[in-house]
Amino acid sequence: MEELDKIKKEINSASDLKELDGIYKKYLGKKGEVALALRSIGDLSEREKKERAPQLQSLKKEIEEEVLKRSSELKSSGAEEALRGEWLDVTAPGKKAELGHLHPLTQIQQKVNEIFSSLGFEIVEGPELETEWYNFDALNIPKDHPSRDIWDTFWMQDKELLLRTHTSPVQIRHMEKHQPPIRIIAPGRVFRHEASDASHDIQFYQLEGLMVDKDMSVANFKAVINEFLSQLFGENVKIRLRPSFFPFVEPGFEVDMYGPKGWMEMLGAGMVHPNVFKAAGYNPVNWQGFAFGIGLDRIAMMKYKIDDIRLLYSGDLRFLKQF
Ligand code: DAH
Repeated sequence: MEELDKIKKEINSASDLKELDGIYKKYLGKKGEVALALRSIGDLSEREKKERAPQLQSLKKEIEEEVLKRSSELKSSGAEEALRGEWLDVTAPGKKAELGHLHPLTQIQQKVNEIFSSLGFEIVEGPELETEWYNFDALNIPKDHPSRDIWDTFWMQDKELLLRTHTSPVQIRHMEKHQPPIRIIAPGRVFRHEASDASHDIQFYQLEGLMVDKDMSVANFKAVINEFLSQLFGENVKIRLRPSFFPFVEPGFEVDMYGPKGWMEMLGAGMVHPNVFKAAGYNPVNWQGFAFGIGLDRIAMMKYKIDDIRLLYSGDLRFLKQF
């Protein structure tokens, strides 16, 4: 018993884990006093064995328990000390990780893609740097024709390439490589060489649509666009078609949607012009189709009630954080 008290005192005076480990080894390690005594029990007489063995066993157990207790004491006080050393205030409230979110234009584009995908349209892309052929000629906009003036153009220095002024060239690129039936949308960035103001910027986003098949009519177009706008604005919208001119369609029209401020122009559209089919390598006698072009910025501005297009490209977080 006296032996045990002495050992316990020793254990509890250990000031770190290393010292404690030394004490443990001194008694219970391979050559430890208690361990050796236990091993040499076999040499004792039967009577001595009976007396000594249980004593040594319980001593071993007591030492083990005491060492375990001291070691957890030392560990917890060690952790506290380490924390104090780092000046870590464990009671301070945590820092909130700030999550970003998608740009309003990206959100609109994803939503529009989703709606047209659900209507069976495939999403395709074309290059931002275009040739004169795809951007103009193939779309029935000849050189030196006044209709070309609608699209103020950024030309590359060699005058061979230009920044596409609309997404319509993707129609030609797609038809060249695919046969009808065709149902595609082509979202993307377009560029215009014009002065910027609240509703015009030198770059913006458009979405081109094209559907080609046999026996297509304006009724098909009206149904698709009505479904699209209704899904986008989450209610049954009222639309009307107004005659308009675009060289690549005949007849051409503009689509207005009825809103809180009366009729608002939403997009340009029309039945694909025979010359456009010819330029893409189709026989216009066999096919009809409709095409449309929507300004995604305008849609975003209407949906989110933004009054200046330039805000969309400003990178101003005070603006962007609102969406
Ligand atoms: N490309 C035209 C523009 O940028 C928009 C447009 C009008 C596209 C009528 C079409 C269309 O496909 O049929 O102003």
